[in-house]
Amino acid sequence: MFARRIAVIGTGYVGLTTGACLASLGHHVVCADVDVAKVERLRAGKVTILEPGLAELVAEGQAGGRLEFVVGAAAAVGDAEVVFLCVPTPMGQGGAADLAAVESVISEVRTILPVGSIVVNKSTVPVGTAARVSNLLKRKDVPVVSNPEFLREGTAVHDFLNPDRIVVGCDIQDAAERVAALYSRLGAPTVLTDAASAEMVKYAANCFLAMKLSYVNAIAELCERLGADVADVTEGMGYDRRIGQSFLQPGPGWGGSCLPKDTQALLQVAAAVGYDFSLLQATIDTNTHQRQLIVAKIREAAGGRLRGRRIGLLGLAFKAGTNDLRDSPALAVAALLRAEGAELTGYDPGIDQHVDGVRVVSDPYEAAKDADTVVVLTEWPEFRGLDWTRVGELAAGSVVVDTRNHLDPDALRRSGLTWWGVGRGHLDLGQDLAAVI
Ligand code: UGA
Repeated sequence: MFARRIAVIGTGYVGLTTGACLASLGHHVVCADVDVAKVERLRAGKVTILEPGLAELVAEGQAGGRLEFVVGAAAAVGDAEVVFLCVPTPMGQGGAADLAAVESVISEVRTILPVGSIVVNKSTVPVGTAARVSNLLKRKDVPVVSNPEFLREGTAVHDFLNPDRIVVGCDIQDAAERVAALYSRLGAPTVLTDAASAEMVKYAANCFLAMKLSYVNAIAELCERLGADVADVTEGMGYDRRIGQSFLQPGPGWGGSCLPKDTQALLQVAAAVGYDFSLLQATIDTNTHQRQLIVAKIREAAGGRLRGRRIGLLGLAFKAGTNDLRDSPALAVAALLRAEGAELTGYDPGIDQHVDGVRVVSDPYEAAKDADTVVVLTEWPEFRGLDWTRVGELAAGSVVVDTRNHLDPDALRRSGLTWWGVGRGHLDLGQDLAAVI
């Protein structure tokens, strides 16, 4: 493999992971960001994204002279052979992806891109964006390639270096092959296709994952009402290789910076081409409903009303292993609890910043102190190992609502607490089932 000169525009979790990992594969990478303070921090080796292994890779790349950070896209592309766009594509008007950042980078670099270089879109962008970027570029000698990323926050470095697949799409086959070659050391199955299909793979995959989770949350609710145990049900389902064991964990609903944004965006795209994607709409609606179901459970645990009740929240991030609060289901549940007048104290091992409506504390036991109900919203491993007897002594109430089925119910029972999970039949309707159906 030949080492290539690569520019990465945007140093968010996708851009920084892409830059650091490509450098670790031997390429020479220049990462650019518009945020001067961020670039200075990165130059000083400070990585603020909570991502295992990332800070080490950044340090390695810098020490080896294969990774540098500059301010502004123009400063990065000067002698680049391949330019990765890793800028945010937030949810814009009506749910469609907002491409302002992509467009601004293109207008900044279009005249200075080296002859024969390749622009690669890594951001999640609507089908047709590669063609649109190509039109904006107005450079016949610079192909635009779609190469979606499939990184999960919290395991981004691992996912980059151990991909299930690499997807590269371009209407010019040679450009797609040159981009695919950047990853050749990883030995992953590679799908070479056209740009629109590569763009579609990303949406189709993320929306399928969201649908899988909404489905499992719906099954969990049914299990609860029918006295079945969703943990055994999903295990039984998951052994079917066509279904698989992963992404079957019920919870307070799916969130984060990707699935909510991408489901909305595909819904918009579908509507724009006249397809009523009711399956995807139901996936989103089920997710909204899931948060309400969780709130109903907490209300019941708190004695039938939430006004004036103290609720101790364990976990605020959208999932364990990140300090990312974007579209966090935990915060969505917190907002609903607040709207009903609950007083919220929250603890999350990754979060120390202000969170609207929640008194954020730095100790899980402080979150539990005087709580009428303790609620686990994020599946941080350390929550399993808490001294639950102490939690029971500190809390005012004895029910722990475990929205992730994360804790050991027996350990809680031994500590004198009542454990309520999701989809594990706490309502115990099983005994009346024969009468109900
Ligand atoms: C997601 C996809 O999993 C990645 O493949 C994709 O690359 C990424 O979006 C992206 O588009 O950039 P991520 O947003 O990091 O990754 O988070 P996930 O691990 O997918 O979790 C999403 C949500 O589903 C979280 O709220 C999580 O708690 C929830 N979840 C996940 C469950 O409730 N149950 C599960 O079994 C798995």
